[in-house]
Amino acid sequence: MAAPGGGLEPLARTVSGHAQIHLLGFMGCGKSTVARLLARRLVWNYLDLDVLIARHAGASISAIFATEGEAGFRDMESHVLRQAVQKPRTVVALGGGTMLLEPNRELVARHAMSVWLRASFETCRLRVGDGAGRPLFGDLEGARNLFRARQDDYARATLQIDAEDDPNGIAARIEGVARRL
Ligand code: S3P
Repeated sequence: MAAPGGGLEPLARTVSGHAQIHLLGFMGCGKSTVARLLARRLVWNYLDLDVLIARHAGASISAIFATEGEAGFRDMESHVLRQAVQKPRTVVALGGGTMLLEPNRELVARHAMSVWLRASFETCRLRVGDGAGRPLFGDLEGARNLFRARQDDYARATLQIDAEDDPNGIAARIEGVARRL
């Protein structure tokens, strides 16, 4: 039920006391697409961490990796995450590597109900295509190793959801969970 003035305060309070939902998982699992659809369903804001990083740097993700290296990219990622968690009633699409760093994991745990979109490596690979714009998806074996190595970090999410289905169905299921909490 919407609050007077058209806001969604009652729902915001019921999502585990958090006013944000963070979507996480490997490159190509559908974080950005599902986040956009979910935000529309909830009438919440939508943020994409990669978009915020590119805007912050004034450069593409690939250019940041090329000039600053992965470490420089991770610093910017943590910086924009600290800003993003301040915004109420927001669905945030995290980057595939956001959960690698403990300070990021703490921010996510403190500010959001987080959802791991679990898709197989094959599904992610098909969705990513040629890997353009994703410097860490350049070589297939390297990406497969990253996929395996990151499972435990993704498993720290509040919830896990099978992300093989179509994005609209996934968004609907997350909305259902959020509204029941
Ligand atoms: C990364 C994933 C990318 C982007 C950057 C690093 C990773 O985001 O943040 O290329 O380490 O997995 P997506 O998961 O949205 O592709």
